[in-house]
Amino acid sequence: MDAASSEAIVGLVRDCPSKALSIKGVKFKEEDRSETQVNLIHGGPLIIRGGATVTNRNKEEVFHETVSFCRCGRSNKFPYCDGTHAQPKAK
Ligand code: FES
Repeated sequence: MDAASSEAIVGLVRDCPSKALSIKGVKFKEEDRSETQVNLIHGGPLIIRGGATVTNRNKEEVFHETVSFCRCGRSNKFPYCDGTHAQPKAK
């Protein structure tokens, strides 16, 4: 495995759709988006950017600027993605 440059690592963390990755002490500015965007990540989550109100089973509404829904069924924070999809599956 090759070592990644620090720039590549920062970019990977900044663009992490589920926000499961972070760098201690660094907070990235959310992009200003005027439209809601929905992205399906191959082998990963469904990501909504630009604001979404999620209603849970208790009829509580929670607004998320960006929210990632797990599609792999392995998240420990289901229905939200926690980045587990990127880890190797246990055999
Ligand atoms: S899609 Fe990310 S943990 Fe399931």
